[in-house]
Amino acid sequence: MSKIYEALLRAELERAAGAGEPVAEKRVIPTLQQNDAYQSVASVDILRENSQYFDDNFAPLPSVPVEHEIPSLASLTPRFTEIKEMPWHPSPVQLKALEDRGSVVEQFRSLRSRIQGFRKTAPLKTILISSGHPQEGKSFVSANLAISFARHKSDKVLLIDGDMRRSSLHRLLGCPSEPGLTEYLSGTASPFEIMQRAQPNADGTPLPKGLASLTLIPGGADAGNASELSGSAKFAELLQIVSPMFDWIVIDSSPVNLVLDGVNLARSADGVLLVVRGGVTKLETAQRAMSELKGAKMLGVVLNAVDGADDPENGYYGYDAVDA
Ligand SMILES: Nc1ncnc2c1ncn2[C@@H]1O[C@H](COP(=O)(O)OP(=O)(O)OP(=O)(O)O)[C@@H](O)[C@H]1O
Ligand SMILES: [Mg+2]
Repeated sequence: MSKIYEALLRAELERAAGAGEPVAEKRVIPTLQQNDAYQSVASVDILRENSQYFDDNFAPLPSVPVEHEIPSLASLTPRFTEIKEMPWHPSPVQLKALEDRGSVVEQFRSLRSRIQGFRKTAPLKTILISSGHPQEGKSFVSANLAISFARHKSDKVLLIDGDMRRSSLHRLLGCPSEPGLTEYLSGTASPFEIMQRAQPNADGTPLPKGLASLTLIPGGADAGNASELSGSAKFAELLQIVSPMFDWIVIDSSPVNLVLDGVNLARSADGVLLVVRGGVTKLETAQRAMSELKGAKMLGVVLNAVDGADDPENGYYGYDAVDA
């Protein structure tokens, strides 16, 4: 966590020095287009030596037991081509990973490539994106990372909105929010009913790279009982049913310092990425989030919205020239 700590400390010092200044505006990277407030996403410290993921002595969170035997996985697992197609209107401003080039695309490529590297050492398919507080960029990172995975060799990717209190991925993708995870976990919808893909364009033009092989499970209706639902064995069961269809599963979640939902869902994930936001996330917030997630398999920390992430000198960012 050393680079993260340094960055957060630096951000706090800057914040203290420039008290009252609108930090977010000050930190916009100047090379981006006007009105394009997207800042750099730097993946750092997902290095082997810093990761509990590779620690053999690490005691993981007990996984949620599946209550009953799933009769025949093959009979329950929907086929990819059977997933319903819906009209999607993705937000080009929020989903920068859909672009062919640009700094945000490169940063997500770099993050993706580091995560792919983990697979050489341990099985890894399901990744939960977490953070301590709201507005640190979990949904932004989840959606753009999922798109980045889906662009690579057209890998099949499932994006799950696990924030059943304030779901937002349907807004980023411009698609229906229900039925979704809430309905499945409440027992009112099947895996077939909650999954959706983008409808092909009516004029026959191909969908943007990254959308064609992406499937979404939206959050569903706002759940008053999200902590109860997220703690149910049905989530692990859902992953077991749908997992054979996908190369990667990315799960967005709610802030772990405020509610338990993310910690509950993390039990069923192969690994967790913690998002911290430059200039916003305090050191104690990140530390507390790490401790809430202490039983989860931490892959590393994503430093989101930082100045200078493009600068190879600072070590926060590495180019990965290869893409799909
Ligand atoms: N790198 C970035 N540059 C600029 N804006 C960003 C960046 N990351 C996130 N944002 C913006 O910040 C806001 C909060 O991001 P996001 O919704 O992803 O946070 P969150 O952690 O999911 O919040 P919540 O816990 O409330 O769901 C959004 O408007 C998003 O577009
Ligand atoms: Mg969110």
